Amino acid sequence: MRAKLILLFLFLLVLILPAQLKKEDGHKKHDRGAEKRNKKQSRHKDIVEDPFFKPAEDPNDDDDEPNTDWILKLQDLDGRCSPDPCLNNGVCEERGKRGFKCDCPKPFKGRRCEKAPKVCKKGTCGRGECVLTSTAPFYECKCKEPFQPPRCLTVATCNPSPCKNGGTCIKDNLDFDCTCPTGFSGRFCHVGPDDCYRDDGESYRGMVSETDDGDECLYWNSHFILSRGTNPFSSYEDAEGLGPHNFCRNPDGDTMPWCFVRRGRKLRWSHCSIQKCPLPSTSSTNPLPSTSSQKPLPSTSSPKPLPSTSSPKTLPSISSPKPLPSTSSPKPLPSTSSPKPLPSTSSPKPLPSTSSPPGMKFSSCGKPQPKRAISRIYGGLKALPGAQPWQLSLQVRPAGSTRAYRHICGAVLIDSCWALTAGHCIDKKNSMQVVAGGLTLNTPEPLEQTVSVEEAIPHENYRETKSAVYNDIALLKLKAKDGVCAVESQLVKAACLPLAPLPDGTECSISGWGSTEDSDYGSSNLLDADVLLISQTSCSSEAVYGSVLDQGMFCAGYLQGGVDSCQGDSGGPLTCNWNGTHVIYGLVSWGDSCAQQNKPGVYTRISHYLSWIKTNMQAS
Ligand code: ARG
Repeated sequence: MRAKLILLFLFLLVLILPAQLKKEDGHKKHDRGAEKRNKKQSRHKDIVEDPFFKPAEDPNDDDDEPNTDWILKLQDLDGRCSPDPCLNNGVCEERGKRGFKCDCPKPFKGRRCEKAPKVCKKGTCGRGECVLTSTAPFYECKCKEPFQPPRCLTVATCNPSPCKNGGTCIKDNLDFDCTCPTGFSGRFCHVGPDDCYRDDGESYRGMVSETDDGDECLYWNSHFILSRGTNPFSSYEDAEGLGPHNFCRNPDGDTMPWCFVRRGRKLRWSHCSIQKCPLPSTSSTNPLPSTSSQKPLPSTSSPKPLPSTSSPKTLPSISSPKPLPSTSSPKPLPSTSSPKPLPSTSSPKPLPSTSSPPGMKFSSCGKPQPKRAISRIYGGLKALPGAQPWQLSLQVRPAGSTRAYRHICGAVLIDSCWALTAGHCIDKKNSMQVVAGGLTLNTPEPLEQTVSVEEAIPHENYRETKSAVYNDIALLKLKAKDGVCAVESQLVKAACLPLAPLPDGTECSISGWGSTEDSDYGSSNLLDADVLLISQTSCSSEAVYGSVLDQGMFCAGYLQGGVDSCQGDSGGPLTCNWNGTHVIYGLVSWGDSCAQQNKPGVYTRISHYLSWIKTNMQAS
């Protein structure tokens, strides 16, 4: 009997305890939410509990920094100065027959000037942000108040007072609050009464440094931003307002000022908690908000930020782990908008044409719309209008049906009436159309063009095995309407065909609407990312794809994983900048899952199929 009672007791314990724990867990989660809302009150605790700011026990344990050294080792770099292999403003010098040497500006080192000194190691700045500077020791610590310089390890609440503009510092245990004089705001009362932005905030030079979620902005020269593969100073067209500060800016043509924030180990961005100026703008040159009465925040006069970042870039994944490609039937995306008529705005300039009738040829190739800015990280990179003007969405529906067309693959425009796609995207049972000049899949856009596919010509030796897809290429002949197929415009242009192989390690760009880390069904926004060409030898190594690769394929991406194309991107472009012209170097073909370590994307090598392309274009 006693034994039975004990058993019963134990049984209840097993039942009740987990439930109780779960409940507590829920409470904790709830409290967390509350904490977020009351950020001001609990910053000290937040900082101390944030594993990111945990002072490193072993300063050599720098696991925070994505290590990219090995990429260069694996990419058997050889080649000359064109295209320029040197990064970070290194100057290239040709050496011998196939060699080059990069003369690196301080403090960069490495064969391609890709190595920046690891001055910002984990724990270098204790509970603070490590920012990079261009003079020795090449970094500076920006402590999170109330932690104090130089190493941001000691706390001094309200002493000295961090509050600006006559704000009073009120101690609250280890935390503090600044009570600001009327009109001043911000955590340190550093935001003046007239601090506001006009129009899109491009000219905003005020001092708001908080996002609309209440997060503190990262310094623009933060090591954290650079280590995530983005260098604001070289990435944005209008980097003038950026500097060694953490004020919100709009350097990239967004609708209002924004800034980078850190979420755990991820880099994110957010719009700022900032007011729009009350009066409508009268002149095009926005007067600066009068922040003149405010003293600048401490240490904004620090050394200039570094001119550019260490590379190769580690961009965010535009893909998520996936099962092996079911190459014969890529996952369809949610059905897209119905076809739209061609805008009849500009007529294409005819080329001194070869065989094609006038109006059926593009005037040039490989020139994207001059970029206003590059995209910024947000679970992938949103392509900007005109950045990938050769990108097409290949859409299908069962032949003879009147159903809506749905996106199935990417494709690449190589001339007004011709596109390339992956062979595995072709199913003769479907009728096909391509949409050019669109960025968003399921929203009709005024400048997009829908063109029917007259004929699909897959490679005659297309072959799919369990481990690879061979000769994964097809030509799409587009159907002319009133004598034109795709009309060259700001958003619709052709990519050039490559003339010669490019060196391993070249940075190229991939784009598509395929699966992302956030959505298996793909992204409705066109995303792009940068990838590096990986040498055939390293990609054919046992650890990667072994002997299945042939000369018609190459790998690109990062062997460490993280950035890749994925399902739904197939047939889309991998373009590389060849002395200012974008050439279609690869087509998204296959890969083992997506974005996994040692499983980079495999692309159809266009340079291998040049004569096939030409012959087939001439034949029809
Ligand atoms: N086969 C896929 C498609 O049909 C593309 C897969 C690319 N995979 C990769 N890891 N890059 O969309």
